[in-house]
Amino acid sequence: MARLKILNTFGEGFAPKAKKILAECGSVDYLSLSLPELAAKIADYDILVMGLTPKINSKVIDEAVKLKIIAVPATGLDHIDEDYAVSKGITVLSLRGEKEFLSEISCTAELAFGLIIDIMRKISASAASVKNHQWKREEFTGRTLKGKILGIVGFGRLGKMMAKYGQGFSMEVLAFDPKVNQNELKERNVRDVSFADLLEKSEIISIHVPLTPQTEGMFSEKEFQLMEKSPYLVNTSRGKIVNEIDLLEALDNGRVVGYAADVLAGETEFENGFSSHPLIEYARIHNNVIITPHIGGMTFEAREATDIFIARKIRDFLGRK
Ligand code: GLV
Repeated sequence: MARLKILNTFGEGFAPKAKKILAECGSVDYLSLSLPELAAKIADYDILVMGLTPKINSKVIDEAVKLKIIAVPATGLDHIDEDYAVSKGITVLSLRGEKEFLSEISCTAELAFGLIIDIMRKISASAASVKNHQWKREEFTGRTLKGKILGIVGFGRLGKMMAKYGQGFSMEVLAFDPKVNQNELKERNVRDVSFADLLEKSEIISIHVPLTPQTEGMFSEKEFQLMEKSPYLVNTSRGKIVNEIDLLEALDNGRVVGYAADVLAGETEFENGFSSHPLIEYARIHNNVIITPHIGGMTFEAREATDIFIARKIRDFLGRK
């Protein structure tokens, strides 16, 4: 039987141990490709290993005449038209639902907590000013975390880690998650609240839900209006969960005091560069918005673990066939 052809768009950065496993599955090309380049090449491949870009729509899938597997070492698959892929006989392998493995992957929660400290203590803004040979202390007066109310939206793996970190800083923790049972929250000393209550009471809100039709635009004008305490909002989940136009308005009118995000609604379109984006333009002139380029999962430890995990998952899947 001909060897399977595998396209790995992570390029040479894919973890060496994971490369060895993939080599057992077929012949692998490591190529970083833009969407048009991918669409032009995909017809040759049986397996695609990819990250959070580019967007895999029905047009690309139609080009992928031999493709049997799309493998993504991530939990969020909103950049892939999964239903269409499945309808074409393609299996999508990912980290979604891999509870035991994911319980060891803490880096997105660590970044979210880092963003909370950064936005409240103005760390990156003050550090940038020092690079301009300024030494201004008053201007970078921030907020103490101790005693503040941290509202966590989504009490899954990352939400639970955030609760622990918040409690480590002596914060009071509230959570909204209709799927989590109350005992689990009680055991962790976390107050179970409705979404409206969380919006009203929190001084910091951190988002830890996946992007679904139900969560898209979950933070829009109506929700910003309910925020009594002018909270900091932290988003390490997906950009589209926040309506960015309404957010800019809420930042202008002070309903939201600061926004720290690792994600943007249009980020899957950024692969070939971008010249402007309303939130980034805002962040260039205001210290109360911090945006990082979706680095939540980007630690060496997590990348190695997730690359190996997905490579094994491909090997196991092929072994079962
Ligand atoms: C990262 O954003 C992921 O979906 O795993």
